Amino acid sequence: MESVTFTLNGVPRTVAVEPGLMLLDVLRDVLHLTGTKRGCDNGTCGACTVVVNGKAVKSCTFPLAKADGAEITTIEGLAQGEHLHPVQQALVDAGAIQCGFCTPGIVMDLYALFETQPDAPQQKIDNVLNRHLCRCTGYETIAEAAHLAQERIKETK
Ligand code: FES
Ligand code: FES
Repeated sequence: MESVTFTLNGVPRTVAVEPGLMLLDVLRDVLHLTGTKRGCDNGTCGACTVVVNGKAVKSCTFPLAKADGAEITTIEGLAQGEHLHPVQQALVDAGAIQCGFCTPGIVMDLYALFETQPDAPQQKIDNVLNRHLCRCTGYETIAEAAHLAQERIKETK
């Protein structure tokens, strides 16, 4: 067995699992945090994106062993009670959610960007959005939501 300890959404956790699992396997199948989605399972679609030590990572290709000692944030860790994070709220307000399968990954990636760089240039926002496949929206509303989120976050800084 492989024992790994990390902080997950502010709470210390230790898991003992078979060696060789990816972080996504443990989040969904061991810890039952199913907000993080499994799409392609090969690092292409971005649906499984979570934040590890402040950086957005694709958890389907992130070995659990690398998470030892890390601070991990998933989509379940963003809202404060009834209050959605500004990135989440912006996606709702812009009408950028249809089936919602891609949404948690996009939220986590934009969250990581704006946490470190609230005034991120367009190129960086584009880079984030290019990491995510959405089968439903055509991306325009998602891009609008990213801008709305950035404006709101900048106002609070
Ligand atoms: S499920 Fe990880 S990138 Fe698609
Ligand atoms: S809203 Fe359905 S995949 Fe993006």
